[in-house]
Amino acid sequence: MTSQPTGAPLTLPPGFRFGTTAAAYCVEGAAEADGRGPSIWDTFTQQPGRVVDGSSGAVAADQYHRLDEDVVLLKGLGVQAHKFSVSWPRVLPEGRGPVNAKGLDYYDRLVDRLLAHGIEPMATLYHWDLPQALEDDGGWLNRGTVDAFAQYAEVVAERLADRVAHWIPVHEPGIAASLGYGNGTHAPGRRLFFDSLVASHHLLLAHGRGAIALRAAGAVSVGCANNHNPIWPASQSDADVGAAKFFDTLWNGLYIEPTLLGRFPDDVAPMMADIAEPGDLVTIRQPLDFYGVNYYFPMRLGAAPEDAELPFELREVLGYPLTDLGRPVVPDALREWLIMFRARYRAALPPLVLTETGCADNTEPGPDGTVDDQRRIDFLAAHLGAVQEAIARGVDVRGFYCWSLLDGFEWIEGLTQRFGLVHVDHETLVRTPKRSYQWYADVIAAQARAA
Ligand code: NOJ
Repeated sequence: MTSQPTGAPLTLPPGFRFGTTAAAYCVEGAAEADGRGPSIWDTFTQQPGRVVDGSSGAVAADQYHRLDEDVVLLKGLGVQAHKFSVSWPRVLPEGRGPVNAKGLDYYDRLVDRLLAHGIEPMATLYHWDLPQALEDDGGWLNRGTVDAFAQYAEVVAERLADRVAHWIPVHEPGIAASLGYGNGTHAPGRRLFFDSLVASHHLLLAHGRGAIALRAAGAVSVGCANNHNPIWPASQSDADVGAAKFFDTLWNGLYIEPTLLGRFPDDVAPMMADIAEPGDLVTIRQPLDFYGVNYYFPMRLGAAPEDAELPFELREVLGYPLTDLGRPVVPDALREWLIMFRARYRAALPPLVLTETGCADNTEPGPDGTVDDQRRIDFLAAHLGAVQEAIARGVDVRGFYCWSLLDGFEWIEGLTQRFGLVHVDHETLVRTPKRSYQWYADVIAAQARAA
């Protein structure tokens, strides 16, 4: 098996870091253990038809009870860093108010175990598991949730910032707002279309307030992690180009510009004028030590028929191999997007980190127990190659994080889609490293030798 991602030698800059990434609700399980409160994902997954296989994250990969084993797997991989998320309802079961000491202790243990194995923790405060009690009060539509988030950030940072250097306040605010409150496909399942811009704004504000609280508690490096799909127009017609541009603003620009430039993109500024209060954009635009890009695939958008609820519609991206989840595999789009991003935001842009990429490859163990997930290897190799090419063209990318170490609970895909470098038997919870695990370990070791 090659230890070189693209057949060409690794040419990554010194200090480049390889990592893995995970979300609390996808891996921890232990939904009712040690005083954890319910989150919107616990509620949502109980509703029939929300998750394709009707499963939930109640058990997931049960990492809460298998921490030692999983950190040893990380150690075997040789990653320099691991991005995890803290479960808000584990720490503050009601979202605000009394701290659940046992919940906070869990993250203490996680951080200490990572550090003991020489792995740098990167902590995310919010990866979509809003305490249900806050949703009952309006969730991200309620500005009060931002205050609760700032208090939660303070609690976690006071406990962990002495050991955790790298922080991300809010993971993919765009996905949380658009899918959670826009089209209703994610928790909490609200279908508000443009009214979900209120949630977008509050999630952006939470990023800013969180960053302030983290720095006040001594965090040394604070960034963000935004999902970015390059948006392609369905055709060159004015209607399709216009629809794609507008969607690009709502999907990408709305989260980039306030964060980096302290302004709303022109296309949405009039809609945000009634939502944002004076000073909010200053709060949102905090200095960033890194900008995390999560990349999976490009999207193709066209103009919708006149009577549709939204002015744009998703069209198929044709002509590329597909992952098991049906997503097109287009590493070139990552390279181009990184180069465009640097060119467009040059002076405002801190160093980039690819804080997530990966693919669903549902290969099961063969007769000899080996999980031969060659398509994941090809995916990761090609996307690492794209990052290398972007770096060669002057884009400052400092790290590559794979989603994910383990097969876990994949949101609305439930347990049906496997993104892990390690296979998890969802009945027995037995972990089996896949061929991609060994491949990633070889890549990391080769880079360490070259550095
Ligand atoms: C992005 C999200 O951050 C992560 O939670 C998710 O499961 C992956 N996408 C897989 O697509």
